[in-house]
Amino acid sequence: MGDVLLITGGSRGIGAATARRAAAAGYRLAINYRSDQRATDELVAEIRRQGGVAAPFQADVGDESQIVRMFDAVIDEFGSIGALVNSAGIDGGGGAVAEFDAQALTDLMAVNVIGTMLCCREAVRRMSTKRGGAGGSIVNVSSMAATIGGRPERSHYAASKAAVDAFTVGLAKEVATEGIRVNAVRPGVTLTDMTDTVRSNPDVRAAVSATIAMNRVAEADEIAAPILWLLSSEASFVSGCRLDASGGGFIIGAN
Ligand SMILES: NC(=O)c1ccc[n+]([C@@H]2O[C@H](COP(=O)([O-])OP(=O)(O)OC[C@H]3O[C@@H](n4cnc5c(N)ncnc54)[C@H](OP(=O)(O)O)[C@@H]3O)[C@@H](O)[C@H]2O)c1
Repeated sequence: MGDVLLITGGSRGIGAATARRAAAAGYRLAINYRSDQRATDELVAEIRRQGGVAAPFQADVGDESQIVRMFDAVIDEFGSIGALVNSAGIDGGGGAVAEFDAQALTDLMAVNVIGTMLCCREAVRRMSTKRGGAGGSIVNVSSMAATIGGRPERSHYAASKAAVDAFTVGLAKEVATEGIRVNAVRPGVTLTDMTDTVRSNPDVRAAVSATIAMNRVAEADEIAAPILWLLSSEASFVSGCRLDASGGGFIIGAN
């Protein structure tokens, strides 16, 4: 039996693409979602039809008690956890700093930053060889936005992902001798519900593509592939890495 992999935000987008690849690679999947039960149930059914093992776990990763409950439920269902992908994230909406709303910022940081940190805490408590665990691998989904302060009026989102980057490096060092590797993937613009305007509006898509060296945006599966590699034993000496899945990076805005 393969490792148990918990994917937060596994119901849609990059998380769902990761779930499909991970199921094909033999992982047993705990698929977290916040509200889209239908998408999660369909994904679980698809994986099971193909002979995989998957179960849904509803929890808002912006809420500590729901995170703890989710990890306990995963252990109840599967007995262990060997891998974690933190893909749950929100974009916080667009907004100039002069228009910032404190509650919206709090919600953004609660999900993207504190949610990621607390899911890592729960995973470390169960994976650490110093705590009787068998070790494990964690991948946090950051963003290329972290590297340039974000696109216009996205500084808050960029800051949340820069926090994920720094936390990933620090945690990787902290647990390096406890059998746990911790890495991040920084996607460039990827076609998911989060970027629906890019997906549905050809003019927007062309304009965004023109800011990327490959002159195109990513499919979710192109982000899932490096996530799976980082999780795997093929990356056994890789920890604290922030892997850019960025189509060659920005050709504007960087300095
Ligand atoms: N798409 C891009 O261009 C892009 C680029 C760089 C980085 N990223 C990052 O990649 C990650 C995945 O993004 P995506 O594009 O796949 O987004 P998406 O298609 O909008 O999917 C978001 C996923 O996160 C879940 N989610 C949101 N808030 C949650 C919460 N509080 N608790 C639990 N789950 C929650 C959603 O679950 P429900 O639907 O069930 O609520 C859904 O499964 C995010 O961290 C995002 O910041 C995306």
